[in-house]
Amino acid sequence: MEKSLPDYKEARRRTKEEVKILTDAYIIDNELSKLGTGKTYCTVTYGCQANVRDSETISAIMEDMSFTRVEDMKTADVVIFNTCAIRENAHNKVFGNLGIIKNLKEKKDILTVFCGCMAQEESVIKMLTEKYKWVDVILGTHNIHNLPKLLSEAIDKNEQVVEVFSKEGDIVENLPVRRDNKYKAFVNIMYGCDKFCTYCIVPYTRGKQRSRRIEDILNEVNELVKDGYKEVTLLGQNVNAYGKDIENYPTMANLLEEVAKTGIDRIRFVTSHPWDFTDEMIDVIAKYENIMPYFHLPVQAGSNRILKLMGRRYTKESYLELFNKIKERIPNASITTDIIVGFPTETKEEFDETLDIVNTCKYDGAFTFIYSPRENTPAASMEDNISLEEKEERLQILNKLVNKYYKENNEKLLGKVVPVLIEGPSDKNSNLYSGYTDTMKLVNVECDPSNVGTIINVEITEAKTWSLDGKKVK
Ligand code: 5AD
Ligand code: SF4
Repeated sequence: MEKSLPDYKEARRRTKEEVKILTDAYIIDNELSKLGTGKTYCTVTYGCQANVRDSETISAIMEDMSFTRVEDMKTADVVIFNTCAIRENAHNKVFGNLGIIKNLKEKKDILTVFCGCMAQEESVIKMLTEKYKWVDVILGTHNIHNLPKLLSEAIDKNEQVVEVFSKEGDIVENLPVRRDNKYKAFVNIMYGCDKFCTYCIVPYTRGKQRSRRIEDILNEVNELVKDGYKEVTLLGQNVNAYGKDIENYPTMANLLEEVAKTGIDRIRFVTSHPWDFTDEMIDVIAKYENIMPYFHLPVQAGSNRILKLMGRRYTKESYLELFNKIKERIPNASITTDIIVGFPTETKEEFDETLDIVNTCKYDGAFTFIYSPRENTPAASMEDNISLEEKEERLQILNKLVNKYYKENNEKLLGKVVPVLIEGPSDKNSNLYSGYTDTMKLVNVECDPSNVGTIINVEITEAKTWSLDGKKVK
């Protein structure tokens, strides 16, 4: 088979070409359905929820081929790495694990599949095809439906098979799914991203923004309701832009309203870009009790100059205006964020502006990152004049502040009664059960085993930085 390799020039292109909805692209014939009889697979997943959801599809595909799942990659016949490219440290973890598999391969037969966002990077593929020839299958984010064909080809030919498309992307609608959780489910509402923030690799690795058809999304949610699911998280890189890529199409506000009407108990959505957050969305979220009062609203930086360099399309002032609007309309809203420190040329004063915005917003939580240059992105060619020590120091100062507000916000819940979806025994203490509040806070709860999979009222008895303790009340 001719190799199909990633191409950054093509990945950057955006045309008006219509997105194809493929309803029969995933094919599994009789022969492929027996490929894994008596064999095991393990999926190792890195990165965001989009990857977690993709791994649920990869697992289902493997089981359609009769492979049996194992949790320890060292015992599997096929190991699938579903990789993340967002920062350099994500790369390092994957290459560390590849080393472990290489050693194991000397003792037993293991097939290795490399997929996800790193597979869309030219430099990674160059390395894998030149120095990691023992990696059997490499497939891109647009090629998951071809996994059965590629795996069987690698087995038959006993050579590396590579299929990575850098096209803008289609939507494959007939993929199976093996969900990891019985009560909460991820539902993709869109793929890709057209925002091209200057530091970010996602628009290159995941293709252009493609909204799923509203009827396909609602069918998936209705199935989940039928199967007893309590919560859906609507997924996309920039969910607020839902529908914008199709002429005269329903908006995110329309979609949220329709999903709310399915009657599912809890609806969440990630990630929101502040640019596309409309007043209509806030109205719908305020109107429906089953849309959770939880918002992940990445700010990235507090300085207008840095926001502009990042290509974020909002200012500190317009961000705060939106933030305050949400808090006014939905008073119990919890809001979390993402922040990058040490973006090229960020001064000490500009970093202080990031601290200022954290002090103003008093976030319920924040994911904080040191800026990591990504191949071919515009920011990677900006002069980076901040030392790693300085960046690490900024991160530490920021984390300390973020944690202070994390705890303060948790403390505000002491003595209050909040709804919690109980998911199962707590990791920390097997006498307790854990779950999340409507506002997305982790609680360890004294309750009964029969409460698992239900939403119960919990009185909060202790507030820690990362979690709460509580007991069930009527
Ligand atoms: N360096 C550091 N952090 C990044 N993120 C995205 N790209 C980079 C990068 N190059 C962060 C952003 C984004 C989150 C998912 O990851 O904060 O919101
Ligand atoms: Fe990356 Fe920006 Fe798109 Fe988010 S909105 S995925 S940060 S380009």
